[in-house]
Order: sequence, then C-alpha cells, then structure tokens
Amino acid sequence: MKIKHIIYLLAVLLSLSCSYNSEDDLIDATPIPDLVTYDSDIKSIIDNNCISCHSNPPVNGAPISLTNYAEVKSAIENNGLIARISSDDLGFVMPFGGPRLPQNLIDLVIAWVEDGLLEN
Ligand code: HEC
Repeated sequence: MKIKHIIYLLAVLLSLSCSYNSEDDLIDATPIPDLVTYDSDIKSIIDNNCISCHSNPPVNGAPISLTNYAEVKSAIENNGLIARISSDDLGFVMPFGGPRLPQNLIDLVIAWVEDGLLEN
C-alpha cells in the first residue's frame, strides 16, 4: 500500500514538473511569409486597426479612405503610411493617438512594400 502511494506521489510530481509553454511563447511573432500580399496579409491589419476612421467616406477627421487595395497602396506611396505606423510620436503615430501596432504587424507592412505592393 505505502509503496503504491509513493509511486502515485512521484507520478504526480513528475507530471507537474513537466515544463509547459506559456501563452507568451505561443503568441511569439508570426513569421513573415515569403511573399506578402494585400489580400492575404495586409487587408486584415488595416480592417482591424484603421477602418474605424479611414472608412469610405472617412470619419473622425481622417483625410483618406483605406478600404481597398488601391487606397492603401496610394496611402503608402503618397501619404506616408509607413512613417505613420512606425512613429514613436503619439501625436503622429497611426492608429491615431496610439498605441503603435505590434512590431510584427509593422514589419509585415514594410515587407509588403519590399515585395512590391502585390494585391494577391
Ligand atoms: C481614431 C481614428 C483613426 C484611426 C483608428 C486611424 N487613423 Fe489615420 N488618421 C486619422 C486622422 C484624424 C488623421 C488626420 C490627422 C493626422 O494626420 O494626424 C489621420 C491621418 C492618417 C494618414 C495621413 C493622411 C494624410 O494624407 O495626411 C495616414 C497615412 C493614416 N492616417 C493611416 C492610418 C493607418 C494605416 C491606420 C491604422 C493602422 C490609421 N490611420 C488609423 C484618424 C485615424
């Protein structure tokens, strides 16, 4: 009987000591795909973080719409979109008023530019 209890206790201790992956490890930056495109990578970032103001028509004082490929591409080429999302200045950064997007999403948008602003 006693031996059984000890074995049981050891088994419990062993299973508890097994390392488990914390949530932080799992949320670690998503790898940037070989080829970044608007449809698969960029649209969701803009939809989730920018469209609340940069809708069509834009609201809350936003000057431009970012609702489709042509508009977002134009904002990169003509309205300094990369500078706005990369800024540390809370008076300049987009989303308006901050906080800045997570770094891996900023990197993804920059990789999209480097890959040639592909739509799909
Ligand atoms: C809460 C509303 C709001 C959100 C959300 C928001 N913006 Fe803006 N955006 C504004 C306003 C207001 C301006 C104009 C004032 C300024 O330039 O700071 C602006 C200006 C800009 C400009 C400059 C346009 C120009 O021609 O001067 C860009 C580019 C831009 N936003 C991109 C983005 C991006 C990309 C996102 C999402 C990551 C975003 N914005 C999220 C309100 C917003």
